[in-house]
Amino acid sequence: MKTGDFTGCAVVLTIIALVPVVFNLLKLAWKCWRGLREFVLSEYWKVNLRTYGQWAVVTGATSGIGKAYAKQLAQRGLDVILVSRSDEKLQVVAKEIEDRYGRKTRTIRVDFTDGHSIYRAIAKELEGLEIGILERSHLPESPFTYFPLCSYVDQKITQVINCNILSVSQKSVIHLLCRGSGLIINISSEAGNRPHPLFSLYSATKIFVTYFSQCLHAEYKSKGITVQCVAPLLVSTNMTNNMKVNCFVKSASEYAREALNTVGHSSYTSGCLSHALQNMALTVLMPDWLRMSSFFIRPHILFLNAVHSELKCAQQFLLSRLEIHM
Ligand SMILES: NC(=O)c1ccc[n+]([C@@H]2O[C@H](COP(=O)([O-])OP(=O)(O)OC[C@H]3O[C@@H](n4cnc5c(N)ncnc54)[C@H](OP(=O)(O)O)[C@@H]3O)[C@@H](O)[C@H]2O)c1
Repeated sequence: MKTGDFTGCAVVLTIIALVPVVFNLLKLAWKCWRGLREFVLSEYWKVNLRTYGQWAVVTGATSGIGKAYAKQLAQRGLDVILVSRSDEKLQVVAKEIEDRYGRKTRTIRVDFTDGHSIYRAIAKELEGLEIGILERSHLPESPFTYFPLCSYVDQKITQVINCNILSVSQKSVIHLLCRGSGLIINISSEAGNRPHPLFSLYSATKIFVTYFSQCLHAEYKSKGITVQCVAPLLVSTNMTNNMKVNCFVKSASEYAREALNTVGHSSYTSGCLSHALQNMALTVLMPDWLRMSSFFIRPHILFLNAVHSELKCAQQFLLSRLEIHM
């Protein structure tokens, strides 16, 4: 082989070796740019949410993430329709929004665990209003179910499915289609990013929310409708026993503010930089093979069983005391 041929081969091999390196560097640069845009530049480069329409419908609006979204939307100039089960709590939030932000409010009292029967009534309440945004963050009570310890499994399954799946897949998009523009924000969860044993039903319904939102977005974006899926990690709310806010756990108001900034920059988001970084770290540090292994799950099951039998003992003790006094 001549020296020239040898050099030519070396150049070709170097180029072949460099292709994946350059490709991965470009991919990394693209990811960094998207992250920068989604979580940093979005602070200064916000979409004017009023362009979607006058009214925003927010479910689960009496506490946690839903309430925080409702307030943020009002602060950004939208009138808000608040939806949840408790009239009393709805009135309190409505008054707070009217007093603080001077926006109009309406309230709809529904229980999403009731299934199909509620949607006609909701549609009637929304008739004639210029609905621009639908934000869905309601959550059934105790959605985390480890089946062997759940005393009323069938009822629980129906409740979680009605609340997390049926409500999200209603024909709400048609309302927005008639107007030719709109924004739907569906709150999924980190638990929907990967399978979570012991949270099986919750985790499975959240991956439904994620896929459903992504498919709807692909189908309707050309028609002027944006569907954004938001997948938080830990936010301090009733669901998480109002845990202390720190660099991992966001307050609901801060979370809603940052997550709303990402509208127009991403159709699937962790909602804030801290959660996006935690999600990346979890992917590396907690791979599926570890989280799904018996080695990882067994201690948790033992713990749950122990807590459950302690609760049962306490319950029996209370019942026996009651019988003595009766
Ligand atoms: N907090 C977190 O760390 C976290 C993490 C990941 C995902 N998420 C998701 O974020 C969403 C909001 O959770 P959150 O933490 O804000 O919970 P939250 O503080 O417990 O709020 C739940 C809301 O849903 C309403 N609600 C409960 N059951 C309902 C029903 N059957 N029908 C209608 N409304 C009902 C409640 O109001 P009423 O009691 O007045 O009905 C309340 O306004 C959920 O989809 C949850 O899965 C939360």
